[in-house]
Amino acid sequence: MCGIVGYFGYRNASDVVIEGLKKLEYRGYDSFGIATVDEEVKVYKCAGRISESSGEICGTGGTVCIGHTRWATHGIPDKINAHPHTDSTGRIAIVHNGIIENYMSLKSMLIKEGCIFKSDTDSEVIAHLIGKYYNGDLLEAVTRATEYLEGAYAFLSVVAGEDRIVAARDKNPLVIGIGDAEIIASSDVTPILEYTRNVYYVDDGDIISIDSNGASVFNSGVSKAIVTDVIDWEIDSARKGGFDHYMQKEIYEEPDVFYRTFNSEIDPDFISELKSAEEICVIACGTSYNAGLLFRYLMEMHCDTPVRVEVASECRFFRPRRGSVVIAVTQSGETADTIAALNMAKAFGCTTAAVTNVVGSSVTRVVDYSLCTRAGPEISVAATKSYTAQVAVFMSVLRELCNGSIKEDLDEIHKVIEDALLVDVSEGAEMCAGASDIFYVGRGLYYPVSLEGALKIKEITYIHAEGYAAGELKHGPISLLCEETPIVAVCTMDVSYPVMLSNIKEMKARGAPVIAVGTEGDEDLDDVADVCIYVKKSTPLGEMLAVIVVLQMLAYQSAVILGRDIDKPRNLAKSVTVI
Ligand code: F6R
Repeated sequence: MCGIVGYFGYRNASDVVIEGLKKLEYRGYDSFGIATVDEEVKVYKCAGRISESSGEICGTGGTVCIGHTRWATHGIPDKINAHPHTDSTGRIAIVHNGIIENYMSLKSMLIKEGCIFKSDTDSEVIAHLIGKYYNGDLLEAVTRATEYLEGAYAFLSVVAGEDRIVAARDKNPLVIGIGDAEIIASSDVTPILEYTRNVYYVDDGDIISIDSNGASVFNSGVSKAIVTDVIDWEIDSARKGGFDHYMQKEIYEEPDVFYRTFNSEIDPDFISELKSAEEICVIACGTSYNAGLLFRYLMEMHCDTPVRVEVASECRFFRPRRGSVVIAVTQSGETADTIAALNMAKAFGCTTAAVTNVVGSSVTRVVDYSLCTRAGPEISVAATKSYTAQVAVFMSVLRELCNGSIKEDLDEIHKVIEDALLVDVSEGAEMCAGASDIFYVGRGLYYPVSLEGALKIKEITYIHAEGYAAGELKHGPISLLCEETPIVAVCTMDVSYPVMLSNIKEMKARGAPVIAVGTEGDEDLDDVADVCIYVKKSTPLGEMLAVIVVLQMLAYQSAVILGRDIDKPRNLAKSVTVI
């Protein structure tokens, strides 16, 4: 969480940083600030969102600027706790993403030494520590300061009188874009794309000095060659295009995202590892967890290898089995819970892999195999196309693992997902938007799909929604059903169809209005449900992908009706880098 940007170059540095921070707002949006440098450091900061600010901070020229958009962890989201933070002299400023775990002891030591703290944040200790060791050389001071920091950080620092940014990373993301006579440092590549495609993914322990000589990297005091990667994302994919919201645009990209991801090759060595694995263990959070659960169902249908799926934050209570292949699913590649679980699995000697959308992200440095989802940048906080891409990766793993298990015609699937975008969900959305509680139910593959449908609607509408295995409703939650609790029941014409139809009747008998999502041409569904939403008839997996899109659209339309802040729902951040 939190986004940081720094610019050194010939453009108006604060303009570049402000525009960059707007692109990183998905990482946190409760306050923001920048610092510019000449003979003195000038700090401008504000509570609220940079995208909604009316010029409280604005371009002030200069060649060096650092900035921050915050997701509060230590200290309330106000102007004082907003970054940048300065040392007691006000000559050194830092912006920080991460958590300094030993900040309390550092703070009391620094206070005893005479430092004056202004905020409640953990981050401020970084500025004071650098101030303590600053003796005319910022690189030297940062190097000494990092020796005392425990926890996770990516930070940028500046000092009055030096035309330079010094950056450091340990466990939190930092990318350096290296252009012609300009360098931009950022939490992810989106603010960089406009200026250069050449990026250096900063490693843990790296300290980078950015000045008129370019970028120099040091690790453990030793100078290191910069090996850059070239980003192939299109700038346009990080823009809203003609759509009202990023979420809507990203859902509309799903036919192509599925096509290119499913079409990508899977490393044959990874498939061999899976073939000899005693068990596959998937670890993930949120939407990525729901994709993992779907993989488990797919595997059960086609392969013998047992699959466990664990919520990453609970993994410390389970021991991975030796001989397991552990697959971390994480769109951002930065989720702290997932990376912690992965490190534990590595310590147990497991083979590890990551399904991620961000090449070069932290998770890719930890694992033995990286499986890329080809969704392109996902800006909306709610995951949509990245989820479909994760499903595509799992379907292609299955294709390679169990020869012949998946014989999908890609063009046909592309068409089915495209058709799903045109399905009218408005009546269902009106019903959902008027509810306080909604149940999403399905059987088999549609159980994890229902969990994801419920997660999507709750995060962007703030309506309480629960996903349930349809057969489980009668074991408790059925007592909650009444005229005010709509049910979204997925009931395509698959193997579970007859029993799902009975379940729907049981729910109707308790007075609950039912929005059924079924297969086109199913007239029986019309007779039992209040609202029917139909997807085109296809293969079971084709219909499932169409249902996924329809449920995303249902959540989206409901949030539009309620006038919610769809791309930036309250309290959430896209990249959750705290445990
Ligand atoms: C839901 C959502 C979150 C993430 C979760 C894991 O729309 O976006 O539930 O899925 O925070 O994030 P990643 O996949 O980046 O590890």
